[in-house]
Amino acid sequence: MSSIRFEQNLSLKEKPDASKLEFGRTFTDHMFLLDYTEGQGWHDPRIVPYGPFTLDPAAMVFHYGQAIFEGLKAFRTKEGKVMLFRPNKNAQRLNVSNERLSIPALDEDAFVEYVKALVEVEQDWVPSTEGTSLYIRPYIFATEPCLGVRASKQYLFAIILSPVGAYYKEGIHPVKINVESEYVRAVRGGTGFAKTAGNYASSIKAQEEAKEGGYAQVLWLDGKEHKYIEEVGSMNMFFKIGGEVVTPELNGSILAGITRDSVLHLLKTWGVPVSERKISIEEIYTASLEGKLEEAFGTGTAAVISPVGQLHWNEHTMVINDGKIGELAQKIYDTITGIQNGTVPDTFGWNV
Ligand code: COI
Repeated sequence: MSSIRFEQNLSLKEKPDASKLEFGRTFTDHMFLLDYTEGQGWHDPRIVPYGPFTLDPAAMVFHYGQAIFEGLKAFRTKEGKVMLFRPNKNAQRLNVSNERLSIPALDEDAFVEYVKALVEVEQDWVPSTEGTSLYIRPYIFATEPCLGVRASKQYLFAIILSPVGAYYKEGIHPVKINVESEYVRAVRGGTGFAKTAGNYASSIKAQEEAKEGGYAQVLWLDGKEHKYIEEVGSMNMFFKIGGEVVTPELNGSILAGITRDSVLHLLKTWGVPVSERKISIEEIYTASLEGKLEEAFGTGTAAVISPVGQLHWNEHTMVINDGKIGELAQKIYDTITGIQNGTVPDTFGWNV
């Protein structure tokens, strides 16, 4: 790590009260930065005091949105050790996103080393009370001042850290979801599989309209036929139908969630029948009418599991498991959070 320059922040902030943490509102004392310049490649890794960037008003990210990000967490175990959950998966996905956005690749081992180095410097910021963690946000954006529509020749890679509480303060509780029939999140051939800022920007309007209608989020259908389920909000979607767990297959317009992958591993280990395939909203509605729709839940890094208690599709309302969290969703949540905080054996070697 000797190659990472370190500039100590001389005015350290007070650590927040762990019981009052909100998602992504508090940031630590330092951040990691790395520059890219054409010809020179990625260079000058450094950990510096957290603070504003100075960017040229023509920086390409402001105009054409060449930007990608990742999200992962560090946890403090009961013994006080700090662990990262599957950071190599984020390194791989970062480069999948980079490739799609024509951003130069970053060495995946270096990515993990940079995350570790920053978390080590900020280890006192990793909260220890139940349900809390240090959320890690690595991101890359185009900094070259130029209004030409092409790939930037300069980028900044940054990592910032935010201590977070449980995503849902009152504990996980099933939410009401509206099946979105006007807007789409992504299309085949687009950027749906990449974690790029634009995917989130274009999803906000549907989310706002869902909130106005009394729903927590939207269920996204495919962009071509408006028929097949893709994601829920910014999470991957799972259903349990007649004993089998199904999730939409990764088809190019769906993000390859790391929690999604972890859930699939767990289910296979537990011997639960599971398949990744196309799932139409009609199939879900029919299963619901036949009493076979046993559970529905979203998966993501931020919330881990978000159960769906009610699904609204046009004039139809589907109540799932009497609006209560399902047994399987609870077991998955307990197992993943248990592995993360060190109370459940990490048989897959996910913690670093
Ligand atoms: C996640 O579920 O972790 C997400 O991707 C949401 C994040 C953008 C806050």
